[in-house]
Amino acid sequence: MSHDFAATLLAWFDRDGRHDLPWQHPRTPYRVWLAEIMLQQTQVQTVIPYYARFLETLPTLPALAAAELDQVLALWSGLGYYARARNLHRAARLCVEHHGGELPRDFAELAALPGIGRSTAGAILAQAHGDRFAILDGNVKRTLARYHGIAGWPGASAVERTLWDLAEAALPQERLADYTQAVMDFGATLCTRHDPACLFCPLREDCVAHREGLVDQLPEAKPG
Ligand code: ADE
Repeated sequence: MSHDFAATLLAWFDRDGRHDLPWQHPRTPYRVWLAEIMLQQTQVQTVIPYYARFLETLPTLPALAAAELDQVLALWSGLGYYARARNLHRAARLCVEHHGGELPRDFAELAALPGIGRSTAGAILAQAHGDRFAILDGNVKRTLARYHGIAGWPGASAVERTLWDLAEAALPQERLADYTQAVMDFGATLCTRHDPACLFCPLREDCVAHREGLVDQLPEAKPG
């Protein structure tokens, strides 16, 4: 059943996914990292103009590390959640000090940088290098909770562990960059929180929530 999940999502992505996002061309570690940090709390359409301006001004990791924090904050102005910009700047300086001016490709080293946790590290390595790491942001949690019929609040540690296991088990053997973009786009545009497009969903035949009429109930809300 779930062995089809990745192949189905990749086929959906080839036909209906987004292929013209600025961080897809080219998918360098710095460009993917910047995109993932901006996208942590901000939607794609909002991010795009900020992303372009940021990269024009600070096109490389060493340029970011050499910039003053005030300039980085000014480029971030309007995006909100300014801790993201401070962490980005700090992480760039740590990369210059400890990693030869590049983002480390080692998962543990990457995930230890400020602002980069397990999911963002996976998103960066999968998109920039095609490495086989899972992601688990809110969109992916919702998609997996519905597809596998996982009860409980996804923020609860036992539920989150289950979802991480499912996210890793779902990974394809190839096309990790496309798969990563596909699973995020799928949750953002089709398997949405409200009014998901089940009618057009290529996964619906194998989706537990759809089969059992639980789409509106999953994922469960935080217990009151
Ligand atoms: N949210 C986080 N990363 C994203 C990406 N690469 N594309 C779309 N939405 C995202």
